[in-house]
Amino acid sequence: MLSKKMTTALNGQVTAELYSAYLYLAMGAWLKKEGYGGAAHWMDLQVREEIFHAEKMHNYILDRGGQMKPGPIEAPPFTWKSPLAVFEKAYEHEQKVTGFIGALMSLAKDEGDHATEIFLQWFVTEQIEEEAAALEIAQKYRLAQDQAAGLFAIDQQLSARSLSVQVKNALAGDPAAAK
Ligand code: FEO
Repeated sequence: MLSKKMTTALNGQVTAELYSAYLYLAMGAWLKKEGYGGAAHWMDLQVREEIFHAEKMHNYILDRGGQMKPGPIEAPPFTWKSPLAVFEKAYEHEQKVTGFIGALMSLAKDEGDHATEIFLQWFVTEQIEEEAAALEIAQKYRLAQDQAAGLFAIDQQLSARSLSVQVKNALAGDPAAAK
């Protein structure tokens, strides 16, 4: 059974993951409108990854006898000055999420909640990937320095992204995928 404090904190993370999805949805819309179809595709898949994170967190709350309490999701920004600015913001956002996961892990340790600690380890590892992916793309855009050929090449690369296996399984209806 989760403590009340842990239940509230995990519910806060569900909201944070859904905000991430909303932020990336807005980023994808802007990229699409500006003609960066490959980058928009990358963001569209990221939206699904974030919803998966929220589902995984919420399933855990339920499995531990907690209650899901939805919180308000604020409106994300919706315009940026360049694809570089988009991915710099995404990287900054992922660093913030890493901080949230770290705070949850500290709470689990303080409470001696070993199950939650083990559960959160998946998110700790996931955040390494999440930060690295956004950083790598931001670095590519920085190197391209607004040159058309470079921007086109990056867009082509981003159009090749596919969903993680876990998210594919979840979308295919596997109830165990988001556990
Ligand atoms: Fe759910 Fe991008 O972290």
